[in-house]
Amino acid sequence: MHSYTIEEIENLTQRFGSPLYVFRKDDFIANYKRFNDCFKSIYPKYQLSYSYKTNYTPYICKLVKTLGGYAEVVSDMELSVARIIGYEYKQIVYNGPYKGDKSLDLLLGGGILNVDNFDELRTVISCAENNPDKQFQIGLRVNINIGQAFVSRFGIDADGDELSRAFHLVENVHNLDVAGLHCHIGQSRSIQAWRNRAKIMIELADKYFERPPKFIDLGSGMFARMEPSLAVQFGNEIPSFEEYADALLLPFVERYKDTVEEERPVVITEPGTTLVNSYIDFIGQISAIKRIKGKEYAVMDCGKFNLGEICTLKELPIQLVAKGVDRKQVNDISFVGYTCLEHDVMYEGYSGALAVGDYIVFGNVGGYSNVSKPPFISPNCAMINMDAKGETELIKRIETFEDVFGTYVF
Ligand SMILES: Cc1ncc(COP(=O)(O)O)c(C=O)c1O
Repeated sequence: MHSYTIEEIENLTQRFGSPLYVFRKDDFIANYKRFNDCFKSIYPKYQLSYSYKTNYTPYICKLVKTLGGYAEVVSDMELSVARIIGYEYKQIVYNGPYKGDKSLDLLLGGGILNVDNFDELRTVISCAENNPDKQFQIGLRVNINIGQAFVSRFGIDADGDELSRAFHLVENVHNLDVAGLHCHIGQSRSIQAWRNRAKIMIELADKYFERPPKFIDLGSGMFARMEPSLAVQFGNEIPSFEEYADALLLPFVERYKDTVEEERPVVITEPGTTLVNSYIDFIGQISAIKRIKGKEYAVMDCGKFNLGEICTLKELPIQLVAKGVDRKQVNDISFVGYTCLEHDVMYEGYSGALAVGDYIVFGNVGGYSNVSKPPFISPNCAMINMDAKGETELIKRIETFEDVFGTYVF
């Protein structure tokens, strides 16, 4: 995270309000390039597809587009973002268990539609049958076991005969082909999990395709680069991008070494948190300090929903930027949110000098933060971009009463 001075924070919050999200574009770009170059240098037909759900802020999505990334969307709403910022369908991957009607526009437009289940497959087949003069291609999301500690609910079961049944259904439609396979398994960020993913997906491609598929999409689930204080909470077992790229792509290099370049599959991954997590900071201010039955609390002008679920699982990296004059020593204090929820806790266990008016900057809040913030009790705050020279621009204005209540009937 950036190290903020009090002058800097005062300047930002006077102009854009507190709390405030600060996206750091230049650091984001450097990280994106490092990640992408690492993967492409091993397997040139690697294609990054940015997970919109992680953070669909259009400014960030546009940056990804200029850097050559595809858009990975899971709803019509996200698809609209990608289209508005200028993506052609063929650069959009539409995933997810429940797709909107626009998924068929994407299919008709030659985009990558990864079908999750048989009911969706039947809809796709109807679309192909209703357009007999057009040729259609889809991907199938497969449900595989890569050693994770749970059974995933997504995709078509690759164990048993479900997957061959899906292939047979498609074979019977003259203008529809399965062009690729997709998988995504959450909570599996280890190198071994990625080796398993690559191995199983290559085996499935060999089993179900006579020639190499057009693409193999391996979803996501890699650790981001992060502050040491956070890494230690993951047991310091954070693989580097190089290690991930080797684990995932060397099996493809080996498998397709005798295949001409044009016929090798495009290998897609869909990073979200890996790209964006470390590059949004969040500034909040302390509005009250209180003690209840011996326990101290600092009440903030923001809450846990601003930061996303990560703050309930780990202690985020923080920076205290002192402003208040009436400073006192606190011990094991909790930074708690403005909501009326008992469990709205943003950070626990801070000890040191503190005052009302001080700012707390939370790092690593790029993923599932502003996009997951409900209008619960209050609308959301603004987001700015701050470049390496400290130049700023507004990329999301403060939400208003009308933004929240415009949909209700008074
Ligand atoms: C299909 C799919 N792709 C990509 C992602 C992004 O994963 P991550 O944030 O771990 O990079 C997710 C997250 O749930 C997902 O479901």
